[in-house]
This record gives sequence, structure tokens and C-alpha cells, in this order.
Amino acid sequence: MKGYVVSINGRFVRPGAAKVSVFDHGFLFGDSVYEVVRTVGGQLFAAKQHLARLHASAAAIELRVPRKDDWLLRHLAAMHRRKPRTESYLRLIVTRGEGQLELHPQSCKRPAVIGIAKPLPQWDDEHYAHGCKIVLAGVRRNLKQATDPAVKSGNYLNNVLALMEARREDAAEALMVNAQGLLTECTTSNIFLVKAGVVRTPALEHGLLQGVTRGFVLELCRKLGLPAEEAALTPDDLFAADEVFITSTTRDVMPVGHIGKHKVKLTPGRFTLRIANAFHDVLHDPANLT
Ligand SMILES: Cc1ncc(COP(=O)(O)O)c(C=O)c1O
Repeated sequence: MKGYVVSINGRFVRPGAAKVSVFDHGFLFGDSVYEVVRTVGGQLFAAKQHLARLHASAAAIELRVPRKDDWLLRHLAAMHRRKPRTESYLRLIVTRGEGQLELHPQSCKRPAVIGIAKPLPQWDDEHYAHGCKIVLAGVRRNLKQATDPAVKSGNYLNNVLALMEARREDAAEALMVNAQGLLTECTTSNIFLVKAGVVRTPALEHGLLQGVTRGFVLELCRKLGLPAEEAALTPDDLFAADEVFITSTTRDVMPVGHIGKHKVKLTPGRFTLRIANAFHDVLHDPANLT
């Protein structure tokens, strides 16, 4: 647990000694929500968007976030300061809290806030230079009418299983389709493709997380005058694409070189590079840093 910083309900604890109750419904049922914020130059990047999504996730499962945003922001900064001096991956988890061993959360009186920080993961340079490999997973993304994938909850078992499929094929990510066979997202990233000069990404209505990086990329496309659309996309669209890339808080914009055995036409393509470079400026824009 070297390099980690952990807090439980605002108190910093030694990572090896950090314990939550086995009666916490977050542990028992995945009844929790979370966010991951990264730092850039030691400052919090896009914290406002992440806190907004935390509140939306919590509201969707009727979970009370027991701390005000000012406190959460100060705490995220404090987590970063306690860590060895690298950029940080800062995770905030809000669980339903301790209760009886029964499904209904009525006995959970106090939601818990847990913070875990570690150095921001460094992805293989090769992935950026020549594109990473992804696979189309057999595991499907949840229905919006089940645990809505728009909720960043502690229920990531489908994603865990999909990522295990990816690793069996030595791939970095697994892309999931929904029950209708439409593309949704990868296990911890959103997917984009470029075809005939149009940037396309699955529409939110098909069941996916509204990625913060995805939002910045769509906004960048508008600013750069690149045609972009949120659409119903199929695996055929993916295999016919000129360029494919994935986005996330820890990866930024990462080109995809292979989908299973299929080689993507251009890696990295002109659009991907332009968007990745522009996103680099977004990352360093003081307006996005707290
Ligand atoms: C399922 C899923 N989709 C997409 C993303 C990317 O979202 P963001 O850009 O906000 O990190 C994540 C982030 O971890 C995720 O867990």
C-alpha cells in the first residue's frame, strides 16, 4: 500500500490499517457511488464537473452526500498534499454506511465518505504512439432501466468481467455493447470513432457514463469546427472507422490501434491527434483547475 493515502470520514488513517465495517452496505451490496479526480500541476482538474456527477449519482440512488462541496474540495486537495510528490489519482467514495444485514438501507443512518489517493497511473507510451488494443466484450453493459450506467456506482462487476476478457487477449480495454447490440463504452473509458471526417460517440440514451473527458472532447470538436455527433453506433461502425480513440480522466485521449485482431485504419489519425493536442491545453487551462 505504498504511495497510498486513505481517509475515512475525514480522518486520515494509515493505508494498511484503513478498515470499513463489514456491515457497510457499500461492501455488502455495492451500495455506493464514487468519483475520481486527477491533479494537473498539483491542482484539481475539472473538480466542479466531478462533484456535479457525484451528486447526480448519489441522487439517482437516493443517497445523501454527507459533506458540502467546499469540504469535499478541501479534502481532495489535502489528500493530494499528503501524497508523495507526483500527480494524483484521487478517489472519493460515498457509501450507504453501516446497517443491518438486509437489502433495504433503512437501517443505514450515516453515509460514509472514504478517500483514497495514489499516484496518477502512467499508461504505456506505446499506447499513445501506436494505439492501444481493445476487445469487444461478451459481457453487456447494464440496461439504463437496471443500475443505470450513468450512475458511477460501486457496482462494477460487469466491467471487472469485461476487463478480464480484455486481459486474456492482452488488450488494454474492453468495449461493451448494450442489450440491443449498440456500442456503449469501455470498462473505465468512453469510446469515439471517426468516419469520413465526422467524430462519433455513443449517445447517452444507449446506457453509458457521461464521461467528463467525453464532455470536454465534444466541446473541443465544436470549438475546432470538427463535425461531431452522439449517435446509435454498432460494432460494424467500429470496424469501418478510420480512427478510434478512448477517453478518461487517467488516460486523456488515447488512440486505439486494434480491436481484437482487427487493425484500425489510422493510428493515431489526424483527428485523434488534433483532439489529443487540444485536450492537453484544456488540461492546463487555469479555468479548469482548482
Ligand atoms: C464506465 C466508465 N466510463 C467512462 C469513464 C470515463 O469518464 P471520465 O472521463 O469522467 O473519467 C469512466 C471513468 O472511470 C468509467 O468508469
